[in-house]
Amino acid sequence: MNEHEPPVPVTVIGLGAMGKALAAAFLAAGHPTTVWNRSAGNADSLVADGAMRAATITEAVTAGPLVVVCLLDYPVLHEVLEPAGDVLAGRALLNLTNGTPAQARETADWAAQRGAGYLDGGIMAVPPMIGQPEARVLYSGSRPVFDEYEQTLNRLGTATYVGTDPGLASLYDLALLSAMYGQFAGASHALALVGTEKADPAEFASSLLTPWLTATTIALPLLAQRNDTSTQAAEESDSPPDMQAVAIANIVTASNSQNVDEALLSHLLIPLRDLIGQSAHGRDLAGMVDLIKKTTE
Ligand SMILES: NC(=O)c1ccc[n+]([C@@H]2O[C@H](COP(=O)([O-])OP(=O)(O)OC[C@H]3O[C@@H](n4cnc5c(N)ncnc54)[C@H](OP(=O)(O)O)[C@@H]3O)[C@@H](O)[C@H]2O)c1
Repeated sequence: MNEHEPPVPVTVIGLGAMGKALAAAFLAAGHPTTVWNRSAGNADSLVADGAMRAATITEAVTAGPLVVVCLLDYPVLHEVLEPAGDVLAGRALLNLTNGTPAQARETADWAAQRGAGYLDGGIMAVPPMIGQPEARVLYSGSRPVFDEYEQTLNRLGTATYVGTDPGLASLYDLALLSAMYGQFAGASHALALVGTEKADPAEFASSLLTPWLTATTIALPLLAQRNDTSTQAAEESDSPPDMQAVAIANIVTASNSQNVDEALLSHLLIPLRDLIGQSAHGRDLAGMVDLIKKTTE
């Protein structure tokens, strides 16, 4: 589609917090937008803004060439879409429901059997961000579908295609969420530690924790280095493994004496201290990724 063509009619199935934001972004960009949700009342504000309410799932799917689905999970998606399986042929199915790579691949096969093009997506944003370039949405699956609708997809946020394997967007989405939850867990532990003394957690968070976490992102490329370069990296490191093992041991000791729960420590920091402290590994942070992976060899 070029920029002079009229906006593509779009259907949005699932009007929870995220689905409503998606539909609103399409409406704001001038796309004829048909909506469906199990609880029909969720569509009221969108209909007031110009959306068309479909009475049935089949009516929703047949309203246009691009069907966007954003539901709680994949079992719900299949329960909702199965009755409309016969009318999917020739349409593009874009699934923005969070799931696993295996679920995405199964759903791509399911769509292919019904003659639909399939794109899976991972939304790296919260609903208020939808429609802004800061909202990144990852896509994988049919490249022709992505190319045909890229301009429409950019209405939701920055559309980023990551590969033809329909499971890749889920994999990247879950990997990014894993990094986020790991950071939240570490930050929660830090705040709990500071909170054991007469410190202001809000002041600590804004003046020290946030700049510190931002500064530490400089180490991320090091983590991503391949194993075969890690030994060399350790030899040249400014932060040798033995030094880091001592610091981690001190976090454990101080947390125990400050009476901070060691759930996070016992699952993450203590194994990490042991791993990077093993002289057999003798490597810097660059070796961590390989140490975490379960090998099948
Ligand atoms: N919200 C976020 O910050 C965010 C960010 C990134 C990605 N996402 C992803 O977006 C997807 C939707 O999230 P959300 O925030 O919109 O969740 P939500 O507000 O809980 O909405 C869930 C949606 O699923 C529908 N649903 C649940 N069970 C159903 C069933 N048995 N049959 C039919 N419909 C059913 C709900 O319909 P009813 O209204 O009828 O209950 C609603 O449309 C999830 O996969 C989520 O991971 C969300």
